[in-house]
Amino acid sequence: MAVFLSRSEEETLRWAEQYAKTLRAGDVVLLEGEMGAGKTVLAKGLCRGLGITCEVTSPTYAYINDYGGVYHFDCYRLPSEEYAERLGFAEYFSAGGVCLVEWGERIANLLPADAKRIVLKKRGEREREIGF
Ligand SMILES: Nc1ncnc2c1ncn2[C@@H]1O[C@H](COP(=O)(O)OP(=O)(O)OP(=O)(O)O)[C@@H](O)[C@H]1O
Ligand SMILES: [Mg+2]
Repeated sequence: MAVFLSRSEEETLRWAEQYAKTLRAGDVVLLEGEMGAGKTVLAKGLCRGLGITCEVTSPTYAYINDYGGVYHFDCYRLPSEEYAERLGFAEYFSAGGVCLVEWGERIANLLPADAKRIVLKKRGEREREIGF
């Protein structure tokens, strides 16, 4: 895994905006890291890089935000994998859009084997190691 050391939220946003240029239709990207690591910040930067102009907020309560071809998932509060299955998560993953997934660990069996991973590690109040 390559590593980028971010020293601020703005640097993470800019890094993600660049990384987004490597994404292709159909990609599923797992955003990993502890609470407050910056997964949602990453998702904001990725959306920006993918040309999404509307405000990107955490889908914690709705599970999925649909930005038109870009889908942002937060699985933290999902009651179960079966529940995600019933919501049609697998169909989203194979629909040809770009899927950004927070807390994908909760739905491990539904994720495609070729999903990409971005791993955030807190190294200080504002320092984050971004593995990709
Ligand atoms: N270098 C950095 N990169 C990203 N976020 C940073 C950085 N430094 C500080 N932060 C702060 O860390 C917090 C990250 O919050 P964020 O909601 O993105 O975390 P999260 O991983 O999505 O958490 P959760 O698991 O609760 O969804 C924000 O308050 C942000 O301002
Ligand atoms: Mg989040």
